[in-house]
Amino acid sequence: MSDLTARDAYAVVGNPIDHSLSPAIHQRFALQTGEPIEYDRLEAPLDDFAGTVVGFFRDGGAGLNVTVPFKEEAWALVDRRSTRAESAGAVNTLIPEGSHGELCGDNTDGVGMVRDLQQNHEFALEGARILVLGAGGAVRGVLGPLLEAGPASVVIANRTLEKAQSLCELFSGAGAVEARRFEAAEGPFDLIINGTSASLQGELPPLPDSVVGPTTLCYDMMYGRETTVFNQWGLDRGAARALDGLGMLVEQAAEAFWLWRGVRPDTAPVIEALRRA
Ligand code: ATR
Repeated sequence: MSDLTARDAYAVVGNPIDHSLSPAIHQRFALQTGEPIEYDRLEAPLDDFAGTVVGFFRDGGAGLNVTVPFKEEAWALVDRRSTRAESAGAVNTLIPEGSHGELCGDNTDGVGMVRDLQQNHEFALEGARILVLGAGGAVRGVLGPLLEAGPASVVIANRTLEKAQSLCELFSGAGAVEARRFEAAEGPFDLIINGTSASLQGELPPLPDSVVGPTTLCYDMMYGRETTVFNQWGLDRGAARALDGLGMLVEQAAEAFWLWRGVRPDTAPVIEALRRA
């Protein structure tokens, strides 16, 4: 007899994982949609991500999100990748497929950012002049969906110019991308996305003030209780708006929920609840 109270098991796997907001987000989605799921945190040892994932699915797990530092390892581990995971070089969502324990890897970060900008904040990416700061995994993860939205141009500025150039080569077929040093970024831009980890150390890239104009939207992929250092910098220079990465976090989770359950949760009340908490 089937157990009517059984819930499908999901988790976010990372190391460290204590502070992940993903359980709070997915539990809210489950309540809102009535989907019978449970969602936990799963810490994988740094040297055994693969074993942790295999064990989770062997025990009947229904899906995993993957976070720092395992997104690239997840990319290498899966049997099949979505186009956006392929271009991101990283996987943040694992979906079991078929009856032989195969795994499909997707990446919902980029689409999460695009949806946050376009739907939650009515920002028109099409035709926009965009400056992206940073050229690490976080930036690579969002460039595909960002370019797909049809901006006029994307300038990637990075401390290490070569890394920005490599990303430009990788994405040159997807739109107009060019690499610059921070100091050489010529604005103003409609949108400036901070994807560096500089703000973790409270630092700012050495950008000319002219990158910010009166209609510029500053978007920090980081989030926190206070306005981020980068967003404050933009607002101090007259940016029209500054958004942090909380909306992107909830939107990437909603996309994963949709991939797993075929149901799209309403993100607005969840973003608001997390903001209040
Ligand atoms: P993530 O996965 O968060 O993207 P990453 O791949 O290590 O992490 O990339 C970190 C990004 O932040 C890089 O673009 C890095 O610049 P370099 O490529 O020159 O290393 C950038 N970054 C980190 N600290 C920085 C700082 N203090 N100033 C400017 N850029 C910084």
